[in-house]
Amino acid sequence: MKTQVVIVGSGPAGLMLSQLLHTHGIDSVVLERQTREHVLSRIRAGVLESTTVDVLRQIGVAERMDREGHAHDGVRIAWAGRDTFFVDTHKALGRRFVVYGQTSIQEDLYAAADRRGQPVLDRCEDVVLHGFDGGPGARPHVTFVRDGRSQRVDCEFIAGCDGFHGVSRRSIPEGVRREYEKVYPFGWLGVMARVRPLPDVTYANHPRGFALASYRSQVLSRFYIQVPLEHKVEDWPDERFWPELKARFPADLAAAITEGPSIEKSVAPLRSFVSEPMRHGALFLCGDAAHIVPPTGAKGLNLAASDVFYLGRALARWYGRRDASQLDGYSAMALRRVWSSVRTSWYLTNLLHRFPHFSEFDQKAQEVELDYLKSSAYAQAALAEQYAGLPFEAAD
Ligand code: APR
Ligand code: PHB
Repeated sequence: MKTQVVIVGSGPAGLMLSQLLHTHGIDSVVLERQTREHVLSRIRAGVLESTTVDVLRQIGVAERMDREGHAHDGVRIAWAGRDTFFVDTHKALGRRFVVYGQTSIQEDLYAAADRRGQPVLDRCEDVVLHGFDGGPGARPHVTFVRDGRSQRVDCEFIAGCDGFHGVSRRSIPEGVRREYEKVYPFGWLGVMARVRPLPDVTYANHPRGFALASYRSQVLSRFYIQVPLEHKVEDWPDERFWPELKARFPADLAAAITEGPSIEKSVAPLRSFVSEPMRHGALFLCGDAAHIVPPTGAKGLNLAASDVFYLGRALARWYGRRDASQLDGYSAMALRRVWSSVRTSWYLTNLLHRFPHFSEFDQKAQEVELDYLKSSAYAQAALAEQYAGLPFEAAD
């Protein structure tokens, strides 16, 4: 097989990239380790920055999002069961964000790929990247095994969109890579339930721990609570979950939460991670392959979209004009936005969680920060700007 760009991974990053490249007339083949069913079963955050909404519209997969996604003017922060305040991104910046589940985006992306006959090969085992480091005579290609048969795709570029556990990042020599990591001492228990959501996406900082009430549709809610790292889903039957969730919100909000049987539950650890550079020779990393953020702020998918936007633009420039300048600038440009969101999600994680090792001093500092945010329009505007996400950098 032969193509212009091999994309490893059919998560949101890989499928958004193949769709964007298609709009520029650039061919790609997508190689995925899992079955499609498995990829579609993953439930993740669902808050889309306006730039992500723009990318989805630009690549022609926004029809259902525009119909079913819910525009929000900001987020609510509740604190110690006492106060709440609204961080109004619309008032501060004129920007709304859209709540639309990542699972739905993944479905829309697969549907678009099917419509145009995009090769997305699932169940690819032993994917190995070759010839991307620019050595003499190097020719990028990818080998893999599918249905027991060894196969090879020759290409000009490889896009590593294979998530945190993928093969692409680890194919960059260790001496070239620099990794930055922060692991948080708790996890999030996520629960999906067919119940009416609170009107706002609401984050709560409470002595019992963090909680979040989010939105999927008028009749579908997504909730999270901070739990100790070692906790499993089995530790949280519904009878334990609902009272604990409600205990972490102020009484009026707790009273507005409707209980119902959970339809999905999962526990995820929280981590911040960045691997630099995001390019090595003809290999370019996008999304979770290069960086992980804790879900506080829901930046993960939005960063995947910004990487894809920059890489798609750079490849279009290369194929259109044989101008490599944007490919050369990709890593630095993508990383500026990555670090900005890494910082925001780290800040929100610190602001909203109860850390097991917090001293009384740390606790006071957190309370003062929340007090300041509540009382200062300037502080809220700064947070609104970070939550709503930065605009993309212009091409030179
Ligand atoms: N070979 C082929 N595919 C692989 C390999 C491999 N060796 N390793 C992993 N993959 C696939 C995974 O099965 C997965 O479907 O790569 C895909 C990576 O998808 P995501 O983990 O969703 O990562 P990404 O597309 O970067 O998404 C970024 O969306 O999924 C969320 O939490 C994520 O919010 C973040 C954003
Ligand atoms: C979600 O809707 O799943 C969600 C919302 C906001 C977050 C994280 C997750 O910060």
